[in-house]
Amino acid sequence: EKGGYPDFMLKEIHEQPRVVRDTLVGRMIGGELDIDELGLTYEELNLIDRVYVIACGTSYHAGLIAKNLIEMWARIPCEVEAASEFRYRNPIITPSTLVVAVSQSGETADTLAAIRDARIKGAKVFGITNVVGSPVARESDGVIYTKANKEIAVASTKSFIGQVVSLTLLSLLLAQVKGKLTTGQVRMLFRELGDTAEQIQWIFDTQAEAVHEAALACKDAHSALFVGRGMGAAIAHEGALKLKEISYLHAEAYAAGEMKHGPIALIDPGFPVIAVTTKSPTYDKTVSNLKECEARGAKIIVVATEGDEDIKQIADHVIYIPPVRDAFCPITATVPLQLLAREVAIMRDCDVDQPRNLAKSVTVE
Ligand code: F6R
Repeated sequence: EKGGYPDFMLKEIHEQPRVVRDTLVGRMIGGELDIDELGLTYEELNLIDRVYVIACGTSYHAGLIAKNLIEMWARIPCEVEAASEFRYRNPIITPSTLVVAVSQSGETADTLAAIRDARIKGAKVFGITNVVGSPVARESDGVIYTKANKEIAVASTKSFIGQVVSLTLLSLLLAQVKGKLTTGQVRMLFRELGDTAEQIQWIFDTQAEAVHEAALACKDAHSALFVGRGMGAAIAHEGALKLKEISYLHAEAYAAGEMKHGPIALIDPGFPVIAVTTKSPTYDKTVSNLKECEARGAKIIVVATEGDEDIKQIADHVIYIPPVRDAFCPITATVPLQLLAREVAIMRDCDVDQPRNLAKSVTVE
């Protein structure tokens, strides 16, 4: 059943190139982006003036990435909120509000309650889920399926990648409908999005040893900080969650620019700081934040862009990903952090597929 892999988590991590491809199949028809199951006309989509992404855990992190894309491409204000918070306040919802509910299992209690509440208040709701016919799919106005297939390991990996790819498609569609991207630009971005499948495979083929060395550097730590900016900050949140949930090593994520407002006090010699320093508009800023950590003795592990040799001046360990547009960086840069979390967990004798105290689907509040 594990297909020759030692655990389901590794098997599912390795399925991610396929998940990217399958999630994109049939989405570009005659040169036009096609998400016909959304159940809204282009006229209705064009009226949307506010987006909420609601989700929990890893799915919430996919939402952080969607916020960046929707605001960058479609220029629609977008908030991301934990479903457990959204459902108990009084969010501003009008008929032109779109709520995007993201849930692998499609049955998370808080996410479902938030969907029901949003619909009562008049919002349109899109579900993004991995389970056909699940409550999230049934109770939404439209649904995108993530094509990850059944995920068995409790820690979500391939379904996260499916969610990010699906949310990227939705962001492209909104941008096109709003006239912020031309169909030519959408086609070009769609092609590049598809290239991430091979880029993930490249990471498996070339970076295993680098991940292993980085894991050795973290395994005896009591705590670790994950940092980045922009997309890198969103990826840092997912990296920290993966590490803490399966290795029981305390990890926290911070926007790199926030370090000097408190967390840098934690840094003492040997403290692991794991950073996303891929090429992006804020690369230099993140590097200077890392220099401040290095000066205090931190052990620096980075996910960087292949060809970036300069980063070795401050990093103790470098894991490379292929050059990629910042918008698509989460799809590849998350993968080394999944692998890192798994290796650390194994080194600490943890059950990577069945971490203590956690359940695969959370159907009670
Ligand atoms: C972490 C993880 C959880 C889930 C969360 C939401 O690896 O799997 O944080 O992401 O419980 O679950 P879904 O997406 O099924 O609503």
